[in-house]
Amino acid sequence: MAEHIFIGVAWPYANGSLHLGHIAGAYLPADIFARYHPLKGNKVLMVSGSDQHGTPITLRAEQESKSPQEIVSRYHQEFLDCWQKLGISFDLFTTTGTLNHTQVVHDIFLKLQDRGYIYRDTVPQAYCPRCQRFLPDRYVEGTCPYCHYPQARGDQCDECGRTMSPGDLLDLRCRLCSTSPHFEVSEHFFFRLSAFRDRLKEWIAGQSHWRQNVLNFTIGILEGGLKDRAITRDIDWGVTVPQAGFERKRIYVWFEAVIGYLSASKEWARSHSDDTAWQPFWGGEAKGFYFIGKDNIPFHTLIWPAMLMGYENLNLPYDVPANEFLTIEGKRLSTSRNWAVWLPDYLQRYDPDALRYLLSINMPETGDADFSWREFLRRNNDELVATYGNLVHRVLTFTQRNFGGAVPPLGKLDSQSQRLLVRAQETLDDVDRLLYRCHFKEAIKTAMALAQEANRYLDEKSPWKTIKEDESTSATAIFVALSVLSALKTVLYPFLPFSSSRLHGYLGFDGSIEAAGWRIQSPVPGQKLLFPEPLFRKLDESIVIEETSRLGIQE
Ligand code: MF3
Ligand code: ZN
Repeated sequence: MAEHIFIGVAWPYANGSLHLGHIAGAYLPADIFARYHPLKGNKVLMVSGSDQHGTPITLRAEQESKSPQEIVSRYHQEFLDCWQKLGISFDLFTTTGTLNHTQVVHDIFLKLQDRGYIYRDTVPQAYCPRCQRFLPDRYVEGTCPYCHYPQARGDQCDECGRTMSPGDLLDLRCRLCSTSPHFEVSEHFFFRLSAFRDRLKEWIAGQSHWRQNVLNFTIGILEGGLKDRAITRDIDWGVTVPQAGFERKRIYVWFEAVIGYLSASKEWARSHSDDTAWQPFWGGEAKGFYFIGKDNIPFHTLIWPAMLMGYENLNLPYDVPANEFLTIEGKRLSTSRNWAVWLPDYLQRYDPDALRYLLSINMPETGDADFSWREFLRRNNDELVATYGNLVHRVLTFTQRNFGGAVPPLGKLDSQSQRLLVRAQETLDDVDRLLYRCHFKEAIKTAMALAQEANRYLDEKSPWKTIKEDESTSATAIFVALSVLSALKTVLYPFLPFSSSRLHGYLGFDGSIEAAGWRIQSPVPGQKLLFPEPLFRKLDESIVIEETSRLGIQE
């Protein structure tokens, strides 16, 4: 029976461009998964959107003397453009700035409040006497009490990575005017996270299919004790608080951003003129997968599940396959130091599948992974071009030249040919199993191993030699090779959608790969092939120096 698979992907802050860390961490694995399932006949809903609130946005706006809305609109447009060029196939990529989102957030807020899971309390809050305003955590700067880094932020020290609250910092200053703030009491709403401790513990204990790192991290936090959390702030940019007297406060960005998964699902349903179409993805046997970077784990494995438990009747996450970090040329990625490869730059210069390939086969799945331009060049030239692309090209051009551009007849299969066809079927089954369990790196390696075997097979069969004395032997080898190409365009489609779709067409198949399904679509003798262009571009050595020298340069 068809499964319903909900795929939620982290909502990027719309305060700057996307970089390869985002892609390797969340968007690419999500898209691989979203492309795989429909081939298996399952129904997928994949949503996300621009996270347009929070201090990352307002700080950026203040630095550029623009309104938050101007910043958000610019980057939202850029994100949409990137998804299209990189082939990230969202069903909906919206923003947290819609009226629908506010309504869904208010509904959840009020229901949780009704049930006693949201309550009022007062907290001391940093207040800048010069700016005459409350300062969000990120607006406070000071010396880290642990490592003595002088520019630690009120929420975190960038040097030692520890999380802070403003009161922890030594020699506190306002980030806008450097005046030292004092603390004033302010009234806020709190989410009673502590009330969910036992239920969360029991639920987490049943998630043995989660990745070990995600499970360990989550259990660590659970054991450290769950504290109630303030979910409103003294700011004016964000989702309003549905409560009289709170007109000058807003809901904390993290509390409302995770609700985006639900509000976006509802928006998607409405845009398909069926207000209830989201429900099969959130109830019954439906499975929800949340693709995020590891810094977002607790929000998706504890806080969002607790909110859903309190709200009732919606499915909790089935899996949160969070990835680890991507380093760049051996160093930690840092956007402020421009030690990053920006996605719009990449897409301007290179092909989407080349990046998708490298980040899949080198995915930071169970540990950090490194991106280097040398590795990018090597994998592109030696693996994509020389192994896979070359296999495709020599089989297709040989068929054009010697068999009139049509699938040749199949003669008698020797044991070597039979073995390769069995391998092709096994590859299809293995990649299926691996993708189902979100083992992306292993899956693409398995697929590429089939291309290597097909190359060896062709070298041994040498159809370009046998064609002279024994056309039927040559034809059989080519028929077998075409069948393997057909398997490859399917197993590689989730990873390399652009080149796979072209190969599907070159092989003479009509319709989409998706419609063909997860099987080896057999070439039929006589089937006309299209004249092929090379699937991939060989890159020049010089890009390594060119690209590495761009890193770290401040604009
Ligand atoms: N905007 C957050 C970040 O970039 C991620 C939010 S994911 C959410 O870290 F959906 F949970 F909001
Ligand atoms: Zn100030």
